[in-house]
Amino acid sequence: MTMDNKQGHYKVKNLKLAAEGKKLIAWAESRMPVLMALREKYKRTKPLKGYRIAGCLHVTKETAVLVRAFIDAGAQVSWSGCNPLSTNDAVSASLAADGISIFAWHGMSVKEFYWCIEETLKIKPNLTLDDGADLIFTIHNKHPEFAQKYVIGGTEETTTGVHRLRAMAADGALKYPVIAVNDAETKWDFDNVYGTGQSTLDGILRATSILLAGKNVVVAGYGHCGRGVAMRAKGLGANVIVTEIKATTALKATLDGMRVLTMDEAAKVGDVFITATGVKDIIVARHFKKMKHGAIVCNTGHYDCEVNLVDLQAISKEVKDVRANNEEYVMKDGKSVFVLAKGRLVNLAAAEGHPSEVMDMSFANQFMSQLRLANAHKEGKKLENKVYDIPDEQDQEIAGVKLATMGIKIDKLTSAQSKYMDDYSAGT
Ligand code: ADE
Repeated sequence: MTMDNKQGHYKVKNLKLAAEGKKLIAWAESRMPVLMALREKYKRTKPLKGYRIAGCLHVTKETAVLVRAFIDAGAQVSWSGCNPLSTNDAVSASLAADGISIFAWHGMSVKEFYWCIEETLKIKPNLTLDDGADLIFTIHNKHPEFAQKYVIGGTEETTTGVHRLRAMAADGALKYPVIAVNDAETKWDFDNVYGTGQSTLDGILRATSILLAGKNVVVAGYGHCGRGVAMRAKGLGANVIVTEIKATTALKATLDGMRVLTMDEAAKVGDVFITATGVKDIIVARHFKKMKHGAIVCNTGHYDCEVNLVDLQAISKEVKDVRANNEEYVMKDGKSVFVLAKGRLVNLAAAEGHPSEVMDMSFANQFMSQLRLANAHKEGKKLENKVYDIPDEQDQEIAGVKLATMGIKIDKLTSAQSKYMDDYSAGT
């Protein structure tokens, strides 16, 4: 059942959780100085007045700060979560109680997930904001006329989404311009590495409470996310094993002190398996069969296809609920493996996602990119239907403000030094 309130309609788990959500959001605000400075700066001029933003991104305390920044800047906002298990019900209740159109609750079905996206589209958005591109795909597949009639542009938060949108653009299938927020240096060099690293281990520890020191932790994929996870697992005393498909990346992992194995080899020795690849079928039946009794398996990539649970189900005789976000699959050969958060993003399903401090920079990029799209529209600039990168000035501005809030000063080049750098007549 959907409910209506002052501004729009909503569907959340329990509106009574609103007070708890409000406290969580206040805590996030206190840790997100860059986004809060943008919010303060634009709340008077309201540059997003007249713009309708539909968002599909994890409903966390940090996302609530972003949603509120858009509203303070004058936008009308309608929101859904981008994963069935990542919504914080207290946060969604707080947003609904404040009159924001939100359709998100923890534990929804896949059918409900798409129903929520459809509900957010009822505002007929002229800007979209995605994490994983499900909203953009829904517009392209189900409502292609929206691209002509309403939408002026969108932003995409995550590696998986950007990858697919670039493929769409290369095929000429993308119907409106999209800014790749993920590819900003102040996003992927921080959120993907330090955010995923810490929050993934946080999720694993909340779901298992195991000791990581001395364990063989297998990290599938050594991209930014996998590297962050591997670094943090190593820091906690684990023996980290990396699996990779790319030679240069495998070499980097080796020189970072990780042991590189194929998944077939790693399956036999791993105690904990963490997939971070963005690719399906990383762990399949033959790997489960090789695993040690008691191995723990989870995923921190965007979609739940990295660990093939259909395969595991087929070779199991029983599934037992062990504790929150932890299920034991008893295989037909008598061995057990423990799967966390149903193979969905363990950092968001079993913990609170990335810490506010890194989401501060990611969401400052989101805010500035949405503003950039609105400004281009106001100025009558026609953007192409392609994926745009974030300009370096935006990265430098966000990093500069972040450093200032941390009380860190950096040096400046003198004019003689600048000249020296460009001087191609100088040598030894
Ligand atoms: N993705 C990863 N962590 C997140 C968070 N805390 N909020 C929103 N999206 C996220």
